[in-house]
Amino acid sequence: MHLDQKVSLKTLHTFGMEVEARYFVEAKTHSEVLTLLNYRHMIHMPILFLGGGSNVLFTGDFKGIVIRINSKGIVIREEDQTHVHVTAEAGENWDEFVQYCVNQGWAGLENLSMIPGKVGAAPIQNIGAYGVEVKDSIESVQVVDISTGKQRRFTNAECQFGYRDSIFKRELKGKVIILNVTFRLRKIDESHDERISGLQGDKVAERSLLRLDYGDIREELENMGATVPTIRSVREAVCNIRRRKLPDPAEIGNAGSFFKNPVIDREKMELLQPVFPGMPFYPQSPASQSFKIPAAWLIDQCGWKGYRSGDAGVHTAQPLVLVNYGNSTGLQVLSLANQIMDSVYQKFGINLEPEVNVIS
Ligand code: FAD
Ligand code: EPU
Repeated sequence: MHLDQKVSLKTLHTFGMEVEARYFVEAKTHSEVLTLLNYRHMIHMPILFLGGGSNVLFTGDFKGIVIRINSKGIVIREEDQTHVHVTAEAGENWDEFVQYCVNQGWAGLENLSMIPGKVGAAPIQNIGAYGVEVKDSIESVQVVDISTGKQRRFTNAECQFGYRDSIFKRELKGKVIILNVTFRLRKIDESHDERISGLQGDKVAERSLLRLDYGDIREELENMGATVPTIRSVREAVCNIRRRKLPDPAEIGNAGSFFKNPVIDREKMELLQPVFPGMPFYPQSPASQSFKIPAAWLIDQCGWKGYRSGDAGVHTAQPLVLVNYGNSTGLQVLSLANQIMDSVYQKFGINLEPEVNVIS
């Protein structure tokens, strides 16, 4: 392992700001992560554990040590006729892992295709897209406590998953390192399904428990001519939609949705609906006592879509995504985020909560 000084982080996070770490080290294996922890009592400066850098905003240089987790490995723990239990190390690239699972015929993660980042960060904000959250497939998460060096395995229930939320984003933020994640995925022999049963598209989907109901997935599958949906075609459909809707960080710096979609209670909903009859809303269980409102719509209504100040901006097609057109600083993006939050609050009385981790 190499401890380097004054390392540029520009290419190591998707917002692409020109910031540097005072010290930088990459842990390429599980045991290198543990070795680094043995030195924790000698490190008297802030520590940042970095995965793919796709959910962080640096407001300036990081005046401490950045430890980049790059441990690799995928191991089958257990397998029966219907399910496989597979463990992936924290430094595995998320989308490559999803692709691997799809190739094996293991269902569960295909709707989460093309989300940037590493496996280790996936449970932290319980990544979600196209009607699926990673919690639906996580069996357990192995962590090491930074202050004691003790390892512990969290069951799915102990992770306290919620919408873009988990115990790792709250009580345990900065206190543990996620070492690996174990997933429980369904084994699907799609060719077998099709061959022996001759089922039509929707029936196969139902048997395979594919999730096709969110957004434009069915329409995209139709456009692709995929009459019998499979985990492969669902992955492809999701990738096509994402390429159309979201900016590619290789071209325009961004960290995906900057804010979470707010959830409001029934009372608030009844106040807002007569004033804004066109406001989209999604009832949340239990018993529809709360409603998720698309933050993109709220921001759009406040006139921010396509706004640009210097190199900081609001994406032209998806106003929930703040962007760096090249030379923006993190503080400029943060200032824009604060202006957006103020205007949404003034117009709708709704507080937007950032999804991105602001690192100062
Ligand atoms: P990083 O940005 O490196 O880290 C995020 C946080 O986790 C930091 O606080 C870091 O310190 C901590 N951390 C990272 N690894 C570890 C570890 N092993 N142990 C302890 N702490 C750790 N998210 C979604 O949920 N759904 C989407 O559809 C989605 N789409 C996106 C599209 C784009 C174009 C972009 C840029 C981002 C998108 N995101 C989405 C957000 C992002 O991809 C996810 O949050 C992803 O899980 C972040 O992974 P990462 O490895 O890049 O984490
Ligand atoms: N909308 C507008 N104007 C626009 C664009 C969208 O009003 O210009 C409204 C529309 O009502 C649209 C709604 O916003 O129906 C939702 O838009 P979209 O389908 O793009 O999804 P989102 O709610 O903005 C969420 C996640 C994404 C995830 C997609 C797909 C959050 C915070 N964001 O976005 O996750 O990929 O759904 O499931 O939940 C991320 O977390 O970084 C992320 C990209």
